[in-house]
Amino acid sequence: MILPSIRTAPSADGVWHSCHLLPDGDPAHAIRDGALVVQDGRIAWLGTAAALPRAFAGLTRHDAGQAWITPGLVDCHTHLVYGGQRADEFAMRLAGADYAEIARAGGGIVSTVRATREATEDELFAQSAARLQPLLAEGVTALEIKSGYGLSLEAERKQLRVARRLGEACGVSVHTTFLGAHALPPEYAGRADDYIALVCDTMLPALAAEGLVDAVDAFCESIGFSPAQTERVFAAAARHGLPVKLHAEQLSNLGGAALAARHRALSADHLEHLDEAGVAAMAEAGTVAVLLPGAYYFLRDTHLPPIDALRRHGVPIAVSTDHNPGTSPVTSLLLMMNMACTLFRMTVPEALAGVTVHAARALGAADRHGLLAPGRVADFALWRIGTPAELAYWFGRNPLAAVVRQGRVFPAAGADFNGGRP
Ligand code: NIG
Ligand code: FE
Repeated sequence: MILPSIRTAPSADGVWHSCHLLPDGDPAHAIRDGALVVQDGRIAWLGTAAALPRAFAGLTRHDAGQAWITPGLVDCHTHLVYGGQRADEFAMRLAGADYAEIARAGGGIVSTVRATREATEDELFAQSAARLQPLLAEGVTALEIKSGYGLSLEAERKQLRVARRLGEACGVSVHTTFLGAHALPPEYAGRADDYIALVCDTMLPALAAEGLVDAVDAFCESIGFSPAQTERVFAAAARHGLPVKLHAEQLSNLGGAALAARHRALSADHLEHLDEAGVAAMAEAGTVAVLLPGAYYFLRDTHLPPIDALRRHGVPIAVSTDHNPGTSPVTSLLLMMNMACTLFRMTVPEALAGVTVHAARALGAADRHGLLAPGRVADFALWRIGTPAELAYWFGRNPLAAVVRQGRVFPAAGADFNGGRP
């Protein structure tokens, strides 16, 4: 596996010209015939090429070849670090088995827990790096990676350490989330409250002290943990000054989104069974709705998240891969934009905001990601497209020309695609 090394990639410093800019992902704010200046790995200026200040005239020039430049994409909900895969379970589901039934029978998440525990840290790193590559190749510059397939202190630590190493090795901004309350490990069968005590009183304090945790999540569901158990996890997060987010209302409505909103959660995610009261609570708290069309599609769900209610209440909507081996083994955020439009009837501007500004906010990193602005680290993507809508239009096709991560240039392999340009 050849990782794109942040150390050897060329600097992006200089003037990027012959481009069009989409600073906040909103096509209404597009700047045609633009220029973008990078100095010392940060964006120094952006605007129309005609308005480029003379002070930048002597800098290195990068010809963007009429590419559209967007902020680096943000994948705000992934379970990227795990051992093995679950293709057999997919076959079982195709033969009629139900996701929740498989989980209750000891398959599902717990089978990935076995494989994750058995893998060494280096094996986990190699497997996870292979899954990260296609995301990076689509212009992702920041992503969340959850734990939750270890379910013991040592194994959760191993997952989170691998997540941090991936960020360092690839020069991508990794935001770690501790998801100890993902499933009940077999050794705690029938003792869920005892396991939650381990999560709150042992695992979280140790992992937070090691600097491995940026946020805390739980799976609030009949096959996961109850609202009362989720409350305990959130109270522990508060004791460590850590923000929370929640897997809520995926298979049923337990009021998880409203619970998350009461804790000022960064996001509530999935939300297929969210009701109007939950939407209102999220709007009031400023909690982002993270929609996951990959899981909806792969589970052949038919219960749509309440998009219209989210719009009416002004809840910011993010879109993410939910990459995981059980319900969303997808490694394309562009495909998720397409599915957000086709399956959830989101608009193209909503899908673009969903993988930029709103996704950054779901990470609690709106001040660092999802927007092209002076002073920010140079994280952006160059696309060979004629119009921004193409980012949600193609599926199974990647129009990336190059990505700049942390001020370094990574050209796309085989970027010979000319999009809709004349
Ligand atoms: O986000 N819902 C819980 N967690 C994952 C699925 C995990 C698994 O099945 O391995 C999700 O869909
Ligand atoms: Fe998830």
